[in-house]
Amino acid sequence: MALFEWRQRRRPLDGGGTRRRLLLFRPLYSRKLKRMILFAVVFLAIVPPLFFHFKLRRIRQIAAKKCDWLQHPPRVCAHGGDSTLAFPNTMDAYSYAIGSRVDCIEVDVSRSSDGVLFALHNRDLQRIARNSSVQVGDLSMKQIKELDVSQIVKGTLDNRRIPTLEDALALISNSVGQVILDAKVGPPMYEKGLALDILSVIERSRCKNCIVWAKSDTLARDLIRRAPHLTVGYIVMVDPLTGVRSKLLRMKGASVVGVYHPLIDENLMTVVHRRKKEVYAWTVDEADPMKRMLHLGVDAVVTSNPVMFQGLMEDLRTECLEEGFSIRT
Ligand SMILES: *[C@@H]1O[C@H](CO)[C@@H](O)[C@H](O)[C@H]1NC(C)=O
Repeated sequence: MALFEWRQRRRPLDGGGTRRRLLLFRPLYSRKLKRMILFAVVFLAIVPPLFFHFKLRRIRQIAAKKCDWLQHPPRVCAHGGDSTLAFPNTMDAYSYAIGSRVDCIEVDVSRSSDGVLFALHNRDLQRIARNSSVQVGDLSMKQIKELDVSQIVKGTLDNRRIPTLEDALALISNSVGQVILDAKVGPPMYEKGLALDILSVIERSRCKNCIVWAKSDTLARDLIRRAPHLTVGYIVMVDPLTGVRSKLLRMKGASVVGVYHPLIDENLMTVVHRRKKEVYAWTVDEADPMKRMLHLGVDAVVTSNPVMFQGLMEDLRTECLEEGFSIRT
């Protein structure tokens, strides 16, 4: 009886309740469903494209890091000409570099005891003269002209003599975009009169594309003072004695900073470029640092192996273009 009464009471109650609940919940339930569907649609409309957007941006950033240098490739500067094929700073080394269509050639400039500028580095003189302590300033023009490079370099040498700076400029100045004169300071006269000697050779050779840099700030400043229109650079390196890096910004009139390549990073690039100076990296002879210099966006790379650097740039260019990187023009 109690059970029956319960059923009797429960059924209509229950049935009515369900119906009421359905009536009550149907709009509510479908609103919830609509909201969920809407949410899913919005989610699908926003999240995957957003995800791919950021993913794509990341891929582009990586590609940009790898390929951005293509917008402004660095000048390829042959260090003493192409010294993989000939003795550095000989007419042969310059000719090979010109043949490889380098953008510029760096010439080492040293002064003889009687004041003549030669395209010669102490290190190379010591090899030719077989004397590890001799310096260019120890010898006269006559003594240097008598030296024969073929004593140490076998092979097909067209010109076995050490060129004067004037000889070198007569060959290269009109054949490359830029000539860097790396002015060396040494005994017996050191900086004395050196700026004038250099300027006079530049003028006599009518070298319009000569730039000069030097480790000696005294010389660089002297050049800037005497020839305000000449492009002059100073050098940033680690002092071999103290281990201290030279100051990054220290010469207002200089528009080029020649930096020892391991010291170059993004920060250095930003600081130097902000002052409207160009960064020339020296001396970059291996593939990994060469790639690093490209990614950092240096303005020029001085290398003893210009052909290898040109090949590496060409390979990277092909790779970038194949991966869809487009060069803005
Ligand atoms: C090497 O060069 C120095 C400086 O010119 C000179 O004093 C010395 O005699 C030379 N040594 C030899 C073995 O020629």
